[in-house]
Amino acid sequence: MSSRLLLFGGSGRMGQEIISLLGQNSDQWTLAVSLGREDSLDNVAPESIDMVIDFSSAQVFPEILNWSHNNRKPMVSGTTGLSEKDMALLAKAARDIPLLWAPNMSLGIAMVAEMMESFAKLTDFDFQVEEFHHRHKMDSPSGTALFLQEELVKAVSSEKSKKQSSPVPQPLSVRGGGIFGVHRVFAMSENEVITLEHQALGRGVFAQGALKAAEWLKDKGPGQYSMRDVLRS
Ligand SMILES: NC(=O)c1ccc[n+]([C@@H]2O[C@H](COP(=O)([O-])OP(=O)(O)OC[C@H]3O[C@@H](n4cnc5c(N)ncnc54)[C@H](OP(=O)(O)O)[C@@H]3O)[C@@H](O)[C@H]2O)c1
Repeated sequence: MSSRLLLFGGSGRMGQEIISLLGQNSDQWTLAVSLGREDSLDNVAPESIDMVIDFSSAQVFPEILNWSHNNRKPMVSGTTGLSEKDMALLAKAARDIPLLWAPNMSLGIAMVAEMMESFAKLTDFDFQVEEFHHRHKMDSPSGTALFLQEELVKAVSSEKSKKQSSPVPQPLSVRGGGIFGVHRVFAMSENEVITLEHQALGRGVFAQGALKAAEWLKDKGPGQYSMRDVLRS
């Protein structure tokens, strides 16, 4: 039997991309409810929902998180620009429900994060994260750039690499045109440059990742999960 989905942000660019994919996955998913700015969660019957997917905005994120938490529904969220307070709420809710939040739903970015772990072996290198996005993107640096920055800092924070490399500067952001998302991580020494680059060629990669994450989350217990967990499974 297919699982019934509540799509929060269904009228948005990502929401529409997910809706177009659902048709190809109708044995696994049924779109039970799709909500935009004009709609209210008060009218949603919790018993008609098995899974929540959220691609909305940071302003409204606490609403859908609380709804999922109060009704004990597993939730996948790709909403970016979240505050520290939102992240704390997310961690709290994850004690009671399965929750996967990822600022980038592509398995490729999860792979870049895995690959960056080997940067721990480098000494006397400087590091930099850079990102390019379309002109409509609200948050800057992108959530993905912040995620990569965090993973990079973790990777190169061993005592040995800390002593020999300079601190990692803030990510560089460029906004323009219709770029879906380009992220680069540079490791630079006097003699060589290593570049890891990920390009999203369309929104479909994020929508596919979100559905894959939701499928993976279906049989998980409470906890906060990431796309790296999906990649590793
Ligand atoms: N994790 C990833 O892989 C990934 C990839 C792409 C984007 N994102 C993030 O996903 C989010 C959505 O991106 P998008 O490009 O789809 O944005 P979008 O086109 O602006 O869509 C936003 C959606 O959220 C709804 N919304 C916004 N404010 C709301 C409010 N106050 N109350 C209720 N609903 C509200 C909008 O409803 P209306 O249409 O009625 O305004 C729309 O359905 C952003 O945070 C973006 O950065 C994440």
